[in-house]
Amino acid sequence: MTVPNQPVNSSTSPMPRLGDPAPEFVANTTQGEIHFPEDYRGRWVILFSHPADFTPVCTTEFMTFAAREGEFARYNCALVGLSVDGLYSHIAWLRTIKEKIRFRDYEGMEVSFPLIEDIGMKVATRYGMIMPGEDSTKAVRAVFVIDPKGTVRAMLYYPLSLGRNFDELLRVLVGLQTADQFGVATPADWRPGERVIIPPAGSCGTAKERMSNPDADVECADWFFCTKPLPAAEIELALATGGR
Ligand code: BEZ
Repeated sequence: MTVPNQPVNSSTSPMPRLGDPAPEFVANTTQGEIHFPEDYRGRWVILFSHPADFTPVCTTEFMTFAAREGEFARYNCALVGLSVDGLYSHIAWLRTIKEKIRFRDYEGMEVSFPLIEDIGMKVATRYGMIMPGEDSTKAVRAVFVIDPKGTVRAMLYYPLSLGRNFDELLRVLVGLQTADQFGVATPADWRPGERVIIPPAGSCGTAKERMSNPDADVECADWFFCTKPLPAAEIELALATGGR
């Protein structure tokens, strides 16, 4: 059940951690009111903050999110943005982006995912998006990846000066879903199609058993280091929805 927004006290309302339920809130957005995360049950969500409307790095990020929204939707993932600006600022900025801004091959970009107004910084504070050492009146570039049950699964933070890497955001989303679906872990710089690690870290017993009786395609360099192939096509078949 969603509860109305409560006054935020950072000492009694710590920022979420991995594995925590995503904090609930009700907010006005450019697409109407949302009840979060309730409205997104059954879907993955990327909830992200940006420092301010009408700023250049944020503009490039919004155009990229808009251009690549379908790639996230393919993995059942909705996008929800937030800044501490008001709704009229959001609307005017998104109109300017559509009418005037060209970035790389992107132009005429329409942002159709919700952008939250958070003038009182209630949501930003609750999610730990305000980092006073960076800026006490703006949100940093935070990214929360939230699963279909409403659990926080990954958090990424970027400073004001650095635009996000969208290939990495997609990689995190697909990596989490691959781990869930196939019971594996993914190594450094993993990309779909590369070998995966079995079993996930923390369950070494199974790897030891595999060492003495390995599956044909499992390679174990030592009891703690076993990998197996996982073809990209198999991942696509299991995970991708929107693009099929
Ligand atoms: C930008 O998005 O360009 C930006 C926003 C806040 C501070 C610095 C840069």
